[in-house]
Amino acid sequence: MINKRFFGNLPDGREVYIYDIEDCDIKLSVMEFGAAMVSIYAPDINGADSDIICGYDTLDSYVEGDGYQGAVVGRWANRIDKGRFTLDGIDYSLYCNNGENHLHGGEVGFSHKLWSSEITGKSSVKFSYFSPDGEEGYPGNLKVCVEYKLCNNRIALTYTARSDKNTVINLTNHVYFNLSGYDSGKILDHELTVCAHSYLPTDEELIPTGEIRRVDNTPFDFRQKKTIGRDFNFSNNDINTAGGYDHCLVFEELDFSKPRIEAYDKKSGRGIRVYTDRPCVQLYTGNFLTNEKYPFKGGYPQSPQNAFCLETQIMPDSMNHSNFTVPILKAGELFESTTEFEFFIG
Ligand code: BGC
Repeated sequence: MINKRFFGNLPDGREVYIYDIEDCDIKLSVMEFGAAMVSIYAPDINGADSDIICGYDTLDSYVEGDGYQGAVVGRWANRIDKGRFTLDGIDYSLYCNNGENHLHGGEVGFSHKLWSSEITGKSSVKFSYFSPDGEEGYPGNLKVCVEYKLCNNRIALTYTARSDKNTVINLTNHVYFNLSGYDSGKILDHELTVCAHSYLPTDEELIPTGEIRRVDNTPFDFRQKKTIGRDFNFSNNDINTAGGYDHCLVFEELDFSKPRIEAYDKKSGRGIRVYTDRPCVQLYTGNFLTNEKYPFKGGYPQSPQNAFCLETQIMPDSMNHSNFTVPILKAGELFESTTEFEFFIG
């Protein structure tokens, strides 16, 4: 079941709509601005529904507040060193919005665009955006779509894109989960399993050094279930100074039929499994959730580690490391990728 409702006007007057989608136990709301998820209501072990993602009450907060709440990020999720890369012998220079580096698509990435929308099925909505050649410095006119489909307590996100020039692409969704409910405090006692044998060490600006390092005997080893916070106060130089995970974990194998990640919250009995065709996930423990000006829904204050993101993607900055995943989308070819979040009660 789908219902479309008005959410608000952008500063330039354009109208933004939300779609409420309901199927089995889950109620998902998605909006045209940023093609973002704005709420996911899921039952706990006693059948009580809570909204398990962070976000804001007003459109203005989504426009002005930071954090990429629930949004699709691109053209390039994550960081690109100094915003520079070379493709087909041409040097490209992207907008640098994160110190000296490019993050999540630049000054006005896909997370801050108004996407057009259409209902594509009884529980699916598709958002489309046309990104012109040169936008944020990227080559190629790019038509990009993301379809959300809710079925059997699974939210499937399917991304497609096509460019008229060779270009680079790395799309993800930046939804912040707290399985106890977005207003329930820290997520450090959530249990996490990630089928990742390696991670990408970073420098102090969170740019990968180029090494693909085994997780054995490091805080990044989530192959056996452990709480997110177990190794949190690690005194390991490789960990960033922000005080938490903000790292790319590399999956052992690509296999869409098996979950690559499972997160579980004992308090509520809610869990999520993540299925993806992407080779990596950026595990981000909301270390920068500090913006006092933009509290979450109902005025709930932002606070670090009150939520976590599982941003499936290819390796960050991979255009600048010959040993990383190939990031190129060839002119005219179809880019297609799917990530699914499955909700369970245990
Ligand atoms: C990045 C963080 C960044 C955050 C912004 C995450 O994907 O890894 O470093 O601060 O997005 O919301």
